[in-house]
Amino acid sequence: MTTMIEVRNVSKAFGGVQANKDVSIAVPEGKITGLIGPNGSGKTTLFNSIVGYHPIDEGSIRFEGTEISRMKVQEIARLGLLRTFQQTRIYGKMDCVRNMLISVPQRTMGWSDMFGEQFSAEDKEKAEHLLEFVGLYAKRNLLAGDLSFGQQKLLEFAMALMNEPKILLLDEPTAGINPTLINGLIDRLKRVNDEFGITLFVIEHNMRVIMNLAEHIYCMAHGQMLAEGTPDTIRNDQRVIDAYLGAH
Ligand SMILES: Nc1ncnc2c1ncn2[C@@H]1O[C@H](COP(=O)(O)OP(=O)(O)OP(=O)(O)O)[C@@H](O)[C@H]1O
Ligand SMILES: [Mg+2]
Repeated sequence: MTTMIEVRNVSKAFGGVQANKDVSIAVPEGKITGLIGPNGSGKTTLFNSIVGYHPIDEGSIRFEGTEISRMKVQEIARLGLLRTFQQTRIYGKMDCVRNMLISVPQRTMGWSDMFGEQFSAEDKEKAEHLLEFVGLYAKRNLLAGDLSFGQQKLLEFAMALMNEPKILLLDEPTAGINPTLINGLIDRLKRVNDEFGITLFVIEHNMRVIMNLAEHIYCMAHGQMLAEGTPDTIRNDQRVIDAYLGAH
């Protein structure tokens, strides 16, 4: 099994808050790996560190063997490592197709791209195909700002796929999604992994979802890695149970 992302002994503090402390993980290529933990345990901070959103204080982060902990977000994205946000990042005043088209970072954007019709027919076709894949084809010409929160998250997911990443880090993909649509989203995530060959690393609060989706799960608590293992191991780990019970 090849390791795609290797995080070793990473620490990150914000002022007096030790958001990540001595965190180590290995995300295997081609699989779906989960990351759980109570609110404030440091999950999003770990994602932010991996994608270069902020510098880390200590440790090492490798992507396919290359040290990326001092690289910029765009450089890391170009290597094929992308993430989605817990709060979506879309352009509310543009329609869905246009959001898709401008999400490709390699594109050098100019005013004509923003307002003209400079995108290739191939890209438009790809955008529409991916919108269909996430179930938003009927909404493709609506302004992204007019979509529900759940639909905006699906749009953001499709925007990430537009870039054909090697690995996608998803921060709570089912949060805010209508419960009746969650099973469909789980199937799509599995297809992205299976058919598109994209490795997934997923933060999720919904235990049913992550147990169904991930082969291997990491659990954080108080900024540290508490436990790791198969869904069954994690489900029955007393430290994990205590961390969640103690959080309420
Ligand atoms: N930019 C920041 N500035 C200051 N403190 C931060 C910042 N980002 C995170 N923190 C703090 O770091 C800790 C970990 O936060 P983080 O967002 O990583 O947790 P999380 O596990 O993603 O939580 P949740 O499940 O609620 O999303 C929290 O105490 C949080 O307040
Ligand atoms: Mg978070």
